[in-house]
Amino acid sequence: MTKRDFLDIASQTPATLRTILDEAHRLKAAGRDRLDMLTGNTLAMLFEQVSTRTRFSFDLAMRELGGDTIVASGGEMQLGRGESLGDTAAVLSRYVDAIMIRMLDHDGLVTFARQASIPVINGLTRRSHPCQIMADIQTIEERLGPISERTVAWVGDGNNVAATFVEAATRLNFRLKIATPSELELPATLVASAEAEGAKLEVGLDPWKAVKDADVVVTDTWTSMGDIDEDRRRTLLTPFRVDNALMAAAAPNAIFLHCLPAHRGEEVTDEVMDGPQSAVFDEAENRVHAQKAILAWCFGAIG
Ligand code: CP
Ligand code: NVA
Repeated sequence: MTKRDFLDIASQTPATLRTILDEAHRLKAAGRDRLDMLTGNTLAMLFEQVSTRTRFSFDLAMRELGGDTIVASGGEMQLGRGESLGDTAAVLSRYVDAIMIRMLDHDGLVTFARQASIPVINGLTRRSHPCQIMADIQTIEERLGPISERTVAWVGDGNNVAATFVEAATRLNFRLKIATPSELELPATLVASAEAEGAKLEVGLDPWKAVKDADVVVTDTWTSMGDIDEDRRRTLLTPFRVDNALMAAAAPNAIFLHCLPAHRGEEVTDEVMDGPQSAVFDEAENRVHAQKAILAWCFGAIG
């Protein structure tokens, strides 16, 4: 079997994504008791950037499947003193059975994965956050049924999480309506290639238009890791704040998602975060279940 990396959604087939999502639902229903699916395997978790959810949920996912974990930050490793990504990947491939890595440079991640002889999982880059979007889709399906029948509205920055929603809409055939400020639009090449593949995308600048008829309203922080222009972003993104009025313009049973961490009072109000339409803590929990399924797939235990 060729090694199974999980670097982005675009490089997976719809069938693989469906297999992983079905397994995520099954594993959640099976509960949190320790299983023996990955006994004897160790996952290295490497962080160039800080994390709460990715760190805890991957650690728990691996342990609950019977495996072990080792966690390190880039600063604790020789990587932080200039050892190459390639050499680091080659060495870790002799120690552990898979690697989950969070690093901003997506091309660096691809280089790292190419040099590793074991599966590599993207724990967030500046370009994508595929594990997050698998948990988001699991959350949408458990609340609202099959994703292919749903409309998702993205309101805010055209960032890594938004870009991953575009890839997911292309592969899983759901409708995606996007509203960003013009200065913070998604890369035109990403949108063009999704449209060329037949994605049901509507890209614009008006949050009210985006949320109309949407079953899901999603936003994210206005300043992502690696962004430097915080003040400018706050000015541009203030009209994109998700509040009760914007939620009321979506479909009546719409849910609200946010990958977290949230900046309450900026991209989302307390009323929405803590309101009846919010599914953000289910979404955070689903990182564990979705990532169990991703790990199971990477290790060849499913699909
Ligand atoms: N959503 C997410 O990836 O959160 P962390 O940055 O805490 O891992
Ligand atoms: N877009 C955010 C997501 C954090 C989980 C960032 O990249 O910082």
